[in-house]
Amino acid sequence: MLSKVIEQSLNDQIRVEAESSQVYLAMACWAEVQGFEGVAQFMYAHSDEERMHMLKLVKFVNERGGHARVSDLKEPPAKFGSFKDMFQTLFDHEVMVSKSINDLVHITLQEKDYATHNFLQWYVSEQIEEEALARNILDKINLIGDDKGGLYLFDNDVKQIVAQSASGTQE
Ligand SMILES: [Fe+2]
Ligand SMILES: [Fe+2]
Repeated sequence: MLSKVIEQSLNDQIRVEAESSQVYLAMACWAEVQGFEGVAQFMYAHSDEERMHMLKLVKFVNERGGHARVSDLKEPPAKFGSFKDMFQTLFDHEVMVSKSINDLVHITLQEKDYATHNFLQWYVSEQIEEEALARNILDKINLIGDDKGGLYLFDNDVKQIVAQSASGTQE
């Protein structure tokens, strides 16, 4: 059974994951309308993953005697400046999410809720991976800058990353 504090904190995280899904969907659209197919595929896939993170929390809350809330969401921006800016935004967003997961883990210890603490470890590992991936892509794009030919190659690189994660390691 979840305490009210834990239930509220998990519901807050449900909103964070849902908003992440929205932000990445908006990034997918921005990349797609400019013809960057690889980046668009990456962002669509990432958006789906965030929805999966959200659903996992929703089911946990409901199964543990709480009630998951489906809240309204902040409208994400439609444009992201440059690809470099967009991937910087993505990286900063993931760092923010990691902080939010860490705060949540801290609350479970204060509340002595070890079941939720255990459940959240999946999110702790997931954030390590997502930050590493975002950092990796950011390093690549920082090398390229806004060079058109470089961006074309970068788009192909990102397509490879999507293909790799679809063929093997996806949870
Ligand atoms: Fe997430
Ligand atoms: Fe994420």
